Amino acid sequence: MKAENSACEKQQEIKSTFEPDFLKSEINRLKKEKSAVILAHYYQLGEIQDLADYIGDSLALAQIAAKLDNPIIVLCGVHFMGETAKILCPDKKVLCPDPEAGCSLADSCPAEDFKKFIEEHPGHTVISYVNTSAGVKALTDVLVTSSNAQKIVETFPKDEKIIFGPDHNLGTYINNITGRQMVLWHGACHVHEQFSLDKILELKKEYPDAKLLVHPECKQHLHILADKVGSTAALLKYAQENSANEFIVATESGILHEMKKKCPDKTFIPAPPEDATCACNNCSYMKLNTLEKLYRCLKDEAPEIQVDPAIAERAKRPIERMLALS
Ligand code: 13P
Ligand code: SF4
Repeated sequence: MKAENSACEKQQEIKSTFEPDFLKSEINRLKKEKSAVILAHYYQLGEIQDLADYIGDSLALAQIAAKLDNPIIVLCGVHFMGETAKILCPDKKVLCPDPEAGCSLADSCPAEDFKKFIEEHPGHTVISYVNTSAGVKALTDVLVTSSNAQKIVETFPKDEKIIFGPDHNLGTYINNITGRQMVLWHGACHVHEQFSLDKILELKKEYPDAKLLVHPECKQHLHILADKVGSTAALLKYAQENSANEFIVATESGILHEMKKKCPDKTFIPAPPEDATCACNNCSYMKLNTLEKLYRCLKDEAPEIQVDPAIAERAKRPIERMLALS
């Protein structure tokens, strides 16, 4: 198994009606003309990351959105990231290239069901992962991302009764490293749950000096095997600072783009999923955004993210609390 670029990126380029160079120069022109700013998550196509004004993990994107002055924010990521930006910046136009870019983890926790779960556990503080709908955020005391979950959970007394949702794997990881017994919602991400332990063990034999980088949304057996467990930004930082030359990367393959840019002399090997038709693992939602959709979205100023103002008001508090504690 060798490190390859995502075949899916090439497919996206072929499908476009316009030449990539035309799209890139139009996006830059429209961005200037409209004083718009482009924020992109590390899982976006490389060409979108290269055009963005800011790239980052979900925490960084929320922190940046909260500080921006631009009247238009284009959030190249998934829907909950756009919602978070809109809740923080209600007076701005927040655009997303493809409104269908959802998140299987957020979908695994419908707000009505989460409300019942909270009612079944009276007296518990509710901590939710940011990969949730605005409706779930509105039911939450404090939000976390994979960057700050441990830090925020540890601000509560050891005997605090806590509900943690929706990611069961991240919740298990935080319980293990903090010695807590938070009550967990059983949600998961379809990408991170898929990494194959057997294939990763094979890769470790093939690359005995490689460090294994694992996102906490992966299953517990990978947390145990990992050299580093962390958010996308934390994994990138580890790869930059560690003296190893080879890294097996168990998270969405988009992060390899920035890893290779930051560390051109190092080798990054995408961890394969169980059911693989290629040697990488893509989030089908993240990869819905293309250069052409980004161009159209800037040109038409649509699709725009909207959040019910009553829900947004309740959802803003736990987001701001997270930003204050980060
Ligand atoms: P990060 O918080 O590491 O950016 O992860 C977001 C995400 O969606 C992981 O699947
Ligand atoms: Fe959601 Fe998983 Fe995609 Fe992240 S990788 S956006 S958690 S579906």
